[in-house]
Order: sequence, then C-alpha cells, then structure tokens
Amino acid sequence: MADRSTVIVRPARSIRGLVRIPGDKSIAHRYAMLAVIAEGTSRFHNFSAARDCFSTLACLRKVGGEWKRADDGAIEVQGRGPRLSAPAERLDCGNSGSTMRMLSGILAGQHFESEMFGDESLSSRPMARIMTPLSQMGARIGARDGGRPPLKIRGGSLKAIHFQPEVASAQVKSCVLFAGLLAEGETIVEEPIRTRDHGELALRAFGAHIERSGNLFPDSQVTLPGILMNPTRARLLDILILMGLKISVAQLEEHHGELIGAIEARGGTWKGAVISGADTAALIDEIPVLAATAPYTEDGLEVRDAKELRVKESDRIAAVATNLRKMGAEAEERPDGLRIPGRQRLHGAELDSLGDHRIAMAFAIAALRAEGETTIHGADAAGVSYPAFFEELQRVTQ
Ligand code: S3P
Repeated sequence: MADRSTVIVRPARSIRGLVRIPGDKSIAHRYAMLAVIAEGTSRFHNFSAARDCFSTLACLRKVGGEWKRADDGAIEVQGRGPRLSAPAERLDCGNSGSTMRMLSGILAGQHFESEMFGDESLSSRPMARIMTPLSQMGARIGARDGGRPPLKIRGGSLKAIHFQPEVASAQVKSCVLFAGLLAEGETIVEEPIRTRDHGELALRAFGAHIERSGNLFPDSQVTLPGILMNPTRARLLDILILMGLKISVAQLEEHHGELIGAIEARGGTWKGAVISGADTAALIDEIPVLAATAPYTEDGLEVRDAKELRVKESDRIAAVATNLRKMGAEAEERPDGLRIPGRQRLHGAELDSLGDHRIAMAFAIAALRAEGETTIHGADAAGVSYPAFFEELQRVTQ
C-alpha cells in the first residue's frame, strides 16, 4: 500500500487458497432494520463486514436501536418494537443507497421528523422512486432537486397501498414493504420484473404475515397414484421441481422393468424455465402444457430445439402461440420453439384444439387461471389419450 487509499496491484501467476467471503450485504441491512423494530433480541452471526451495513447500524442507533458486537463476533440487536425515537441529529448513510432507501420505509411510519444524508455519490442518486410510494402512504418527504438526498421525512400514520413500481428495484420493494408493516391495511407491491427477495424472506423470518403470488395454484394439492416413473419419461418432474412446484414421489415399485410411483404435487411459486437440447427431447409431449401455462410463471418460458413439434398431431408451436394470443398473451413463435414472457394475465377466449389432444388439454389447464370463460372447440380430441380428462378436471377443480 502506498498510502491509505492507494493500492498497487501486480500481475499474478496463479490464485490459490481458501477465501471466506463476508456475509451478504443485502441481507444484513434488512435483518438489522427489522431486528430493531421487532420484539426481543436478535443475534446475527457472519453479519456483513460491509461499511454500508455499519452505516445502517449507525443510523439505527440514532433512532434508538441498540446493538453491540458480542464476544463471539455476532451482532446482537435489542428489538424495541415498531416505535423508534426521534434522532438528535441527521442520519449519515455514507455511501449506502440501501440504507437510505430501505430505512426510509421505516422512518415514514414514525411520528417524528428525520433527515438522512450521504456522501457525494449517494447525494446524486435518485430517491423519487421511494418518495412517490411513501408519500402515497401518507408520509411527507422532501428532497433536493426533485428527488436527490438529503431526504427529510416527516413520518406518521401510514395507509396501505397497492404499488406498481416503474423501476424494478429490490430496495424500493423492501422500502414499501417495511412501510407496509407499519401501515394500516394490506400493502401490495406488484413488481414489473422479479428482483431479489431478501426483504420478503426477512419479513417472514421475523414473523410478519407476507404472501407471495406468482403462484400458479397456491392452495392446491393433487395425488396421482400409479404414474410411470421411467427415467426417460420423468424429466418433467425435475423441471417442475426446478420451476418451484413441490413434488414428492412415494411407493416406487418396479413392474416388468418399468418404474411406477405415486406423485403428490402442491402448488408453489411458478418460476420460469429454458428448455432446450436433451430436455426438449425428454419433454416433447409435455411442452404444450408447459407453454400454455407459461404466461403465469414469474420469468416466462423459452423452448428451443423443438422443430419436431411442428409435425405432431398439429403444428404445436403455431397452435400454442395462436391460442395464447387469443387469450391476450404475448407469445413469440420461432422456427424451432417459443418464447413466452411470464407475469401475464390471460382472458377467456374461443379456442380450437385443431384436433390435437394435447392442445385441447393444455388450454383447458391454461383456462383455469384466465379471467372469464374459455370455449375449446374440438375438445373431444382429448379422448385420443385421456377420455375422462374433462370430467376428472371438473371433479378436482373448485
Ligand atoms: C440491492 C438492490 C440493488 C443493488 C444494490 C442492493 C438490495 O439495487 O444494486 O446493491 O439489497 O436490495 P436496486 O434495488 O436499486 O436495483
């Protein structure tokens, strides 16, 4: 080191050794903030060593949050419940946008005025993204130049909002959820794109009531006994598990070399997937139903290497794209696949199975989650593989 802030780096021949990475910064901010407004004591091992997180701890101390480093190195925070105390001086957030943005949510729900400032870099960062929702909730917030720090927050009683942020930002989401914790009523944040979810997980871990949607059928559970589990056919289960469904297989038995099992599936988060290469081959028959339900996933579905689908009982790539569009969804048709964005809302429509059993059944499933009624012409095609499909569907859906 030449001086405190100059480092000389020389080329290396190799890199070896064990490196312990400090605890995660995003998580540490959120845990520290929630620990202060929680009841009881929280202890954090491997709390991030980041300067930013100590900015958070320092700000929290100024509004009455008590914490210390225990002998074993853990950070111990004394919870004081949701009401904090007015700071005697301005809160220095240093370089930390996370501190300023997320703590704003908590300060907005306090019956006092506080001011947060930061270093030169933080002073130029946009804060309108949190000022807008917090103002809608009832806080009064002032900033420089229409939205740059310092931030002056006059907090108070907050009301819940349904917020649809324009920017996809986990900091903004956490800010609004933290304010929601102190507000009257149910706060909803509807993200344009899924961002990191440490705020939601932390809220739940601290005992807050929080629900996440993006789930396909949240309170669902089906048991399917006697299902063929031959590994060349069961790749679908791996993909469904990767997409977030909770699936367990029981009573595995072998009959004449074929594996049979009972599947129990429960609704869960329905993430997206990219299906290509060997997976496409292994899932070739299941792609229509995965694609028809893909608009309900969080991240969408991309299917590649699936030219074969064009020459099945119908051109299944075209059939899926056409029917999805009729239901109001965006779907990109490619010569050998599809790309279907997630988080779409579908409406009921008049569809054609094109005489293809898998298209009839796939869109019956998609219709279960659409707004309004869907009519499927040529639905009896389902009988080609599953004559009782529609009766069974009716029996298990409410
Ligand atoms: C963070 C979210 C991201 C990231 C930042 C930390 C967080 O910012 O860049 O370093 O902990 O939520 P945005 O929320 O502005 O995208």
